[in-house]
Amino acid sequence: MPSWRELTRVKSVDAILAESKTRGHKLSRVLGAMDVTMVGIGAVIGAGIFAMIGEAAVGASSGTPAGPALVVSFLLTAVACGFTALCYAELAAMVPISGSAYTYSYATLGELAAWIIGWDLILEYAIGNVAVAISWSGYFNELLRSVCGLDMPLWLRLDYRSFVQRGLDLAAVPHVLGVPLVLNLPAAAIVAALTVLLVVGVKESARFNTVMVLFKLAILAVFIGAGIHYFKAENWTPFAPGGWRGIQVGAATIFFAYIGFDAVSTVAEETKDPKRDMPIGIIGSLAVCTVIYILVTVALTGMIPFSELRGKIAEPLVAGLAYNHAPAWLTALVALGAVIANTAVLLVFQLGQPRIFFAMSRDGLLPPYFASVHPRFKTPHVTTIWTGVVVGLLSAVCNIDEMASLCNIGTLFAFVLVCIGVVILRVKDPGRARPFRAPGGLLAPLLGLGFCLYLMLGLGLTNWLRFVGWLLVGLCIYFLYGAKRSALRSARACEVAPSATP
Ligand code: ALA
Repeated sequence: MPSWRELTRVKSVDAILAESKTRGHKLSRVLGAMDVTMVGIGAVIGAGIFAMIGEAAVGASSGTPAGPALVVSFLLTAVACGFTALCYAELAAMVPISGSAYTYSYATLGELAAWIIGWDLILEYAIGNVAVAISWSGYFNELLRSVCGLDMPLWLRLDYRSFVQRGLDLAAVPHVLGVPLVLNLPAAAIVAALTVLLVVGVKESARFNTVMVLFKLAILAVFIGAGIHYFKAENWTPFAPGGWRGIQVGAATIFFAYIGFDAVSTVAEETKDPKRDMPIGIIGSLAVCTVIYILVTVALTGMIPFSELRGKIAEPLVAGLAYNHAPAWLTALVALGAVIANTAVLLVFQLGQPRIFFAMSRDGLLPPYFASVHPRFKTPHVTTIWTGVVVGLLSAVCNIDEMASLCNIGTLFAFVLVCIGVVILRVKDPGRARPFRAPGGLLAPLLGLGFCLYLMLGLGLTNWLRFVGWLLVGLCIYFLYGAKRSALRSARACEVAPSATP
């Protein structure tokens, strides 16, 4: 059993920076400020604005609608994320290493906390992506139906639980060894396709991401234009049907829409000038997305009375257009926008997760096999493929609501630790050069911490139990493997050995 001292051993920022330069474990620096901002926007705008905005406006599961005041919810969550974004920007510019919050925790809170956060980030990236892949599949089928008239059988595009919840007949589906075959094939297929792209190269992936970001921004701009055209002031009365509680619940629901700006930090090691580009990418992408979200929310709630969205929360933007008898091409265009937006989110999250595993492996907390870099493509291909396989399989069988909630709690926990990390490094290492410093002294990290804890406390008990269960599994793996093989532990042993010899 490792001692408390061993569990809280921190890796100095200098050691982290030096180690990233080790031959064979080095990623190539190919991304500029524009690329990383696009990575951020690519990761942020997806299922949240195209699907969850409807749930938040109507309050279908909470029973407390935000209504048109959802625009205030979006502002509230943007403020909470803004404080955290400043913290991420400070750390990412100071420690421009691919591990994101995991690496920052290693440098501030110690190895055990770093492991916990690395394990927790799987909830944000991999589990979040399972939710996005499922949403992608829904819109993809919508698009197939509206453009080509094709309708895939439900057993090939739903998970088992959703299939049963819809009251569909299990006896009518094909069986394999007596088990009914119900799986979300398109969700798994898109994950597989993106995995191949990510193995081939990060620059190629970034280019593809930029094209998709431009498309989704253009389509959302068209939707905002339609919103201006169809806007009716009476749709804004009552403005806040659920009062402050509705706004608050709305803010927690649409938190998912903001997740992703932090993913910028996972490509720090592949950025040409991370000291400058990381703050630009993280804060810039959050700012751009906030403006777009507010405009889309104003457009949607102005074109349709929020109560009319009931029962149509899966495709709320399409419902808003249909309510105004918008031309069919416009509706198809928005469905296409959702498919593209979700593809970009999938791409960036599939890019981020392997880089966190990569950093953990380089530290000896995961087997060295995971830190391999492809000799030709220079990408962390082993972790990319493993992430693709696991996310693909889960997307085929899991339910979107559960996955999105788990992603929310895991991400908020990561945000909390990042805010704490900034405070610790400011106290412990005040003299270190900070190419970017969150303004206002300790205000940003402390407010970020407070807001994130507040949002976490608003998540249900089942969610908390799943989260704690996940962390316990992670702790078992750490004590069985990482605690013994940690590179930091071996290094310390080597340092201690000579002086211990008489
Ligand atoms: N923010 C991302 C989305 O909305 C996760 O899809």
